[in-house]
Amino acid sequence: MKVLVVGNGGREHAIATKLLQSGKIEQVFCVPGNGGTATLKGCHNLPLPVDDFEGMERAILEHDISLVAVGPEVPLSLGIADYFQQRNIPVFGPIEAGAQIEASKSWAKDLMLEAGIPTAKSGTFTDADSAKAYIAAQGVPIVVKADGLAAGKGVTVATTLEMAESAIDAIFGGEFGSENIRAVVEEFLSGQEVSILALTDGLTIVPLLPAQDHKAIGNGDTGPNTGGMGAYAPAPIVTPALMQRIQTEILQPTLTTLQKRGIDYRGVLYAGLMISPEGEPKVLEFNCRFGDPETQPILSLLETPLEDIMLACCQQRLDELPALSWKPGAAVCVVLAAGGYPGVYEKCKVITGIEQAEALGATVFHAGTKLKEQLITDGGRVLGVTAIGETFEIAIKKAYAAVDCIQFEGAYCRRDIGHRAMKN
Ligand code: AMP
Ligand code: GLY
Repeated sequence: MKVLVVGNGGREHAIATKLLQSGKIEQVFCVPGNGGTATLKGCHNLPLPVDDFEGMERAILEHDISLVAVGPEVPLSLGIADYFQQRNIPVFGPIEAGAQIEASKSWAKDLMLEAGIPTAKSGTFTDADSAKAYIAAQGVPIVVKADGLAAGKGVTVATTLEMAESAIDAIFGGEFGSENIRAVVEEFLSGQEVSILALTDGLTIVPLLPAQDHKAIGNGDTGPNTGGMGAYAPAPIVTPALMQRIQTEILQPTLTTLQKRGIDYRGVLYAGLMISPEGEPKVLEFNCRFGDPETQPILSLLETPLEDIMLACCQQRLDELPALSWKPGAAVCVVLAAGGYPGVYEKCKVITGIEQAEALGATVFHAGTKLKEQLITDGGRVLGVTAIGETFEIAIKKAYAAVDCIQFEGAYCRRDIGHRAMKN
């Protein structure tokens, strides 16, 4: 069987790697892929944009590909799953109507209210004045979110009224698009964030191992937010009892409400949760896809073949799949980023030392890399150095030993990935 993986991040390199591990996948094609998928044995990059559905269809027919696995939210929100479902090509990822759960924060909030799911109290506004009046009445800290997809840049956690108001001005000034502008303003929640990625075929929903990512650029969770500077699994804060509550109070009601709305959602439902100091889970956001970098440690521990899971989701047989099988222990992914990220950064820096890093037992997933004559940097988050071990301590040591083998000009990483897992 051949699989087309859509996307070019660390997540897609991890998906392609996992698919090729079972020995049942003849070939993986990556659209457009990166330097990692270009050098992965059995994997080929196809230089197409992720919204070129017709181009992908041609490649699918030409290479006799029988499954499409979609990584990022943008093609999902543009209807890639609808496109291939209509052509009877199995596709892992929700249809456009389902992808709204990530593409529109106000739509997701409505769904949460309808489903009775615990989440921050909020208001949705279509003009700046009423949003500012609400903010003034609620006080700070408060969280301001642009409604649409904003590549992780649409959320401001405002500690002053001025910050909140300027976030509102940016949204209504058109910074995140000029059509159908809406802002969601919500209560600030404190606690620990966890990422629950669950598989669903539209009928059954099954969580993967709980993960945590580190969103801030700096050690100790300081500085601006990024796409994620590292992640680890299984997150110790999510005890079996808490996972059970998440299943019955969040995942199942979300699926039931999607069904009530006539949405046949198949793929990953990612719930970003805040766990309060008292242990109460509330939803911060939903994503319609695997998380990046959470996928790197989660798939590193997964033993069940990924293609079996993806096909079961596409074919609505998830209830027939045996319970997921996991390696024991812990997995940690440390992101190596370009100096300057998440602000301005340079590209095209030569990367060395990956072989040495992997010789220590780590797996180096590529994110922003490109293979020219040499391997060079091509993005803000460049590599996700991932290691597994019997304990978090072992996995963290192994990951950082591997990180220290890798060089490129300006390379930066956080030095405290997994610190919360060590405290638990
Ligand atoms: P989101 O895209 O909605 O997950 O927001 C991005 C990040 O902003 C989250 O991962 C949190 O760190 C933070 N955030 C979002 N909503 C809240 C909230 N209600 N309270 C505190 N922090 C939040
Ligand atoms: N790591 C956060 C995300 O994938 O949205």
